[in-house]
Amino acid sequence: MKQHLDAVQSSFDPRAQAYLSSAVHAAGADLQAARELLAAPVQRIERALDLGCGAGHLAYVLAPQVGQVVAFDASPAMLDVVRDSAAQRGLGNLDCQVGDVHQLPFADSSFDLVATRYSAHHWRDLPRAMAEARRVLRSGGRLLFIDLEAPSDTLVDTHLQAMELLRDPSHVRNRSREEWLALLRAIGAQVEHEQRWPTRLQFDTWVQRMQTPEPMVRAIRLLQQGAPAEVSAGLAIEPDGSFTPSTVLWWARCAG
Ligand SMILES: C[S@@+](CC[C@H](N)C(=O)[O-])C[C@H]1O[C@@H](n2cnc3c(N)ncnc32)[C@H](O)[C@@H]1O
Repeated sequence: MKQHLDAVQSSFDPRAQAYLSSAVHAAGADLQAARELLAAPVQRIERALDLGCGAGHLAYVLAPQVGQVVAFDASPAMLDVVRDSAAQRGLGNLDCQVGDVHQLPFADSSFDLVATRYSAHHWRDLPRAMAEARRVLRSGGRLLFIDLEAPSDTLVDTHLQAMELLRDPSHVRNRSREEWLALLRAIGAQVEHEQRWPTRLQFDTWVQRMQTPEPMVRAIRLLQQGAPAEVSAGLAIEPDGSFTPSTVLWWARCAG
């Protein structure tokens, strides 16, 4: 039987190019906010780590503003795409490393910033991965976490998780605001900035990017069509299946 990390690699290895060109991933108000946070006068960030870098869109924002970025991912094919794209963009300070966020191959306190975007909902054991992020972060270092957020309404949340899992077997869970706050508190992170944006997922491109099998696409549509009004409203489900969850950004400092 396959382990969850095998499911992650099977989901992402064949789709690396699709993630490089994905509009949801390549652009977004969250990337602009990340740029602005990094430009604010915090202590200079020498070494940054992008966990679950995918096709590298957050790493490309970090690279011009820090000394060095390590783009880290479980998918070797994603990292091939990042290497090529970083070279085309003239980003000579971006290194790639393959591995699992639950066991980071880095020394304690070796980064000034640990970042991640649209990856944490795939992590099998988020508290453990966050403890690893904390371990490799120096005292006083910053965390930048960005992900789709689970609605705090349980019924709406259940429908979102079901749609995500039907689309992609490597999905684990989107977390709610309350869950994120508890996870950050558990590693001693002090939140300095929190922001969220509506993120519209156009249905056809959302399932095509992941090459979701047709029976699963039908199941998602049936689920949406049978959803109660509170769910349709909570996720802004449109007639063609497009819907709009929130993206949340956490910027936090870890002292001591
Ligand atoms: C949606 S993509 C990330 C998008 C990217 N960060 C961006 O800003 O465009 C999710 C990535 O997380 C990676 N990932 C998921 N679980 C992981 C794990 N346990 N360890 C390392 N990478 C993981 C996947 O391989 C995939 O490339």
